[in-house]
Amino acid sequence: MNKPIRKNAALIASAQAGLSQPQKTLDPKWFYDDVGSALFEQITALPEYYPTRTEVQILTDGVAGLARAVPEGAVLVELGSGASTKTRILLDHLPTLSGYMPLDISAAFLADIAAGLAAEYPTLDITPMAADFMAPLVFPETIAKMPKLAFFPGSTLGNLEAEAAIDLMARVRDWPQVAGFVIGVDLVKTPDRLIAAYDDAQGVTAAFNMNILHRLNREAAATFDPAQFRHVARWDADAERVEMHLMAREDIAFAVDGTVFHMTQGQSIHTENSHKYTRAKLDAMAAMSGWSVAQWFTDPNADFAVTLLVPNA
Ligand code: TRP
Repeated sequence: MNKPIRKNAALIASAQAGLSQPQKTLDPKWFYDDVGSALFEQITALPEYYPTRTEVQILTDGVAGLARAVPEGAVLVELGSGASTKTRILLDHLPTLSGYMPLDISAAFLADIAAGLAAEYPTLDITPMAADFMAPLVFPETIAKMPKLAFFPGSTLGNLEAEAAIDLMARVRDWPQVAGFVIGVDLVKTPDRLIAAYDDAQGVTAAFNMNILHRLNREAAATFDPAQFRHVARWDADAERVEMHLMAREDIAFAVDGTVFHMTQGQSIHTENSHKYTRAKLDAMAAMSGWSVAQWFTDPNADFAVTLLVPNA
């Protein structure tokens, strides 16, 4: 593709900072350009990636239980809405909702999805907001006044360190007129299934992980040769998380906007964590951020959970 090269200053600064650490890192938010968002949608359909279909099943079975917690005229606010697939279950079964505000970092993807939803749900006010949900959020005046149900599916909470996750939960607790918080979390289980979910046979997750290097080449004047890297997913039993890395296959050098970095064979760039939860862990995190677990829905295998948090008085 012959897209004109427009350097992304925030991406350059973030990448250079992460690549200068002893354990090199790249912030996972950069996964989600248009290519990455489309690859992620493919991940959600993979046979090994059980979380999406399990969460959809839990939401479908449990949505009546959520309905009672949604005040009249509430706005559903989704953090990291992607293709808004799961959202439709809520939009279809929560009759007291008056609007939907999808937040996503991928602006073009978001605009597309929001236009489709507006046509499909003519009675709902659809207010897309292209934003990083980790940054402070300012609601438009009208939405600030309305009751809000926050929605954070996909175990995206697990992509944050515990401290950042609790911070985010506390920030949502501080939203004006927040009535509840629906969160999907993946549960601790045997490592083989967890690793397969992040290292699929078709290599889609590998392509998704590698896309961050292609993106840096496209937008950050970087000189990565993605063929020099291997996608690695590993389970850290103490931290209860799957870690994603891009491991150097050989000794290499590359530049990001003129700054040169070196890696030795076997050294890695840490790109993502996916923390796994237990009910006890989530109870504790809720207590620390001003919430209580009002509902806990899970599948028969206890692979995944959807929880409804309500604000503590
Ligand atoms: N929230 C998803 C998860 O932790 C994100 C995700 C799925 C992901 N597969 C990935 C992130 C692969 C990076 C690489 O399950």
